[in-house]
Amino acid sequence: MAGNVLNATLNDGNKMPLIGLGTSRELGDALKTMLNLALEIGYRHIDTAHAYQNEAAIGEVLKTWLDSGKIKREELFVVTKLPGMGNRAESVEKYLKQSLQDLQLSYVDLYLVHSPVGSIEGTSNNPMDRAVDMNTDHISLWKAMEAQVDAGRARSIGLSNFNARQVKRIVRAARIPPASLQVELNVYFQQRELVAFCRALDVSVCAYSPLGSPGSRFRATGNWPTQDPVVLAVANKHNKTAGQVLLRHHVQRGIVAIPKSTNPSRLKENLQVFDFQLDDEDMEKLAALDKRAKGRMFFQNQSKSSEGHPEYPFKDLY
Ligand SMILES: NC(=O)c1ccc[n+]([C@@H]2O[C@H](COP(=O)([O-])OP(=O)(O)OC[C@H]3O[C@@H](n4cnc5c(N)ncnc54)[C@H](OP(=O)(O)O)[C@@H]3O)[C@@H](O)[C@H]2O)c1
Repeated sequence: MAGNVLNATLNDGNKMPLIGLGTSRELGDALKTMLNLALEIGYRHIDTAHAYQNEAAIGEVLKTWLDSGKIKREELFVVTKLPGMGNRAESVEKYLKQSLQDLQLSYVDLYLVHSPVGSIEGTSNNPMDRAVDMNTDHISLWKAMEAQVDAGRARSIGLSNFNARQVKRIVRAARIPPASLQVELNVYFQQRELVAFCRALDVSVCAYSPLGSPGSRFRATGNWPTQDPVVLAVANKHNKTAGQVLLRHHVQRGIVAIPKSTNPSRLKENLQVFDFQLDDEDMEKLAALDKRAKGRMFFQNQSKSSEGHPEYPFKDLY
């Protein structure tokens, strides 16, 4: 099965599977069960973060698989993220070394700056009440990210939750440009301007919450893309599920997606999106579901304190 998953080729030549496994909010045994099953099914791209507090559990599972010889390290694509409280040059190496220790790996495939907003070290791990550090300097931070590639601790480096202006400033100053930008992106929030902008700069885009995070407490309306009548009609036409159509839509736009599921059949279906094709009519119908900025769900009411930060990203249109 793993061989069926196509890759995005990043600007540094590294290959990133177009579908990966999201792991946020999953911990302990539930996480280990999900990850073991995902690896059996054929997932090879795993998305985590220091902030998810699950790297050690992921590391335990990966070690078992790697020690058994069932997978080789080079077959995996492991992504983790520098927490906001590490958003300063002198903290990057410390946090990446901690992640590598927890993951029991000598390198990650992609290391992302989780947020453009820095917070003060030692404050709460909860983004909602974390004290922001108003002195975040993206350029010196990025130089420290580049040093992680030089040291062999990260194969590729990138960004998450940065807006176009912030991405461009880093690309202009970079010796190693960001390979990937991970942002909220789903059929109701298609981020077309940002995707085009990144494409022009040769920065690959990865969709987080690619199904619209059904059930999330952050969407007030309770309208989920997985229940949208247009999506369901396209799914019916192809004899696929709504989730598969939503993920296929990303894949056909050249966007990497990292859905999360603890449900075995949904975990499986989310990877099976390489055996059918959406036609032009389907793509147009799905494009028309875009609510643009109104479709954004995350970081609206999640972290009021970060809105006053000079690098708060979501005041710009994209
Ligand atoms: N960089 C960032 O700031 C950031 C922010 C948010 C998320 N992320 C990453 O993105 C990953 C995914 O985001 P997410 O979990 O918020 O959203 P998501 O993957 O869009 O949605 C996950 C939810 O959808 C359900 N689901 C999964 N597959 C489904 C299907 N085929 N049909 C219907 N429902 C399905 C899951 O429930 P079941 O488990 O019951 O199937 C779960 O409740 C995270 O795990 C994390 O790795 C990154």
